[in-house]
Amino acid sequence: MCCIILFSALIFIFASACQAVVGPGKVTGDTAVHDPTMCKDNTGKYWVFSTGVGIEIRSSTDRIAFTRVGVVWPNGAPWTDQYTGTSNGALWAPDCTYMNGQFYLYYAASSFGSQNSAIFFARSSTGLPGSWTNDGLVTSTSSNNNYNAIDPNLIIENGLWYLSLGSFWTGIKLMSASSSTGKPSSSSITSLAQRSANNGAIEASVIYKNGSFFYLFTSWDNCCQGTSSTYNIRVGRSSSVAGPYVDQSGVALTSGGGTLVLGTHDNIVGPGGQDLLADNDGPILVYHYYTSSGSFLGINRLDFSSGWPVVV
Ligand SMILES: *[C@@H]1O[C@H](CO)[C@@H](O)[C@H](O)[C@H]1NC(C)=O
Repeated sequence: MCCIILFSALIFIFASACQAVVGPGKVTGDTAVHDPTMCKDNTGKYWVFSTGVGIEIRSSTDRIAFTRVGVVWPNGAPWTDQYTGTSNGALWAPDCTYMNGQFYLYYAASSFGSQNSAIFFARSSTGLPGSWTNDGLVTSTSSNNNYNAIDPNLIIENGLWYLSLGSFWTGIKLMSASSSTGKPSSSSITSLAQRSANNGAIEASVIYKNGSFFYLFTSWDNCCQGTSSTYNIRVGRSSSVAGPYVDQSGVALTSGGGTLVLGTHDNIVGPGGQDLLADNDGPILVYHYYTSSGSFLGINRLDFSSGWPVVV
């Protein structure tokens, strides 16, 4: 009896050690996405937009089973060609916000390793293919800039719109945007996070408010290399949307700080390209990860109760 209890306890400890990082929650159907962003509409339906030609759209009624719906721009997006450098190239890392019965979508056009990049804005009341209003260019960069205009993310605080963006170069930036046009409302740019390690590989910023802190999530290291990808999700926090952000050890995010939230574990390789959504069961982390057959949607709940987000 004593032995059985001891044996059970050992199994429990062993199993706990093996479960140091929980896997993604269950998702089924067409989940082959990259750089996902998730919105929930006023009927409770979930919408995932992701990188692809025309920007891919998927929906789900239960946050588990996903169906591909089509693309945002079924007739092409020729206004992005000068940034993708091709005709009807893939559009990157969209960011959706649903409010007032509308979807607000930011997305980027660029090519690998180039600062010839731009962020665009679109709106829709249904989210469906072909329903989108093209609100055009938001901001762009060239080799004359010291940052890169991709990976947009909108955060609204006290009715004021802020757009975070950036990838490599001098890292993650913040600009104010107009709530009526979605375009920059000032030319001032604030630096939020930067690192020098690994060629300054930091991108995919998302700012999420929980309690009295703003949390800045980024993806470090390298995406897009299948199971050789080294992406990992990092975080810092600040009491102000414009920073300064520090990690859990107190290191400024502008000096290379960033606490690990989720990295490669088990058969989940290179998680990143993340978004956060406040759902009924709490904050949700949405990301992609790689397996030998492609990149897939990962969804986990996050627990902020310690003051720092923990994947659950
Ligand atoms: C803040 O975090 C707590 C603890 O995880 C959670 O219960 C609450 O729903 C979160 N609120 C938002 C807006 O994310």
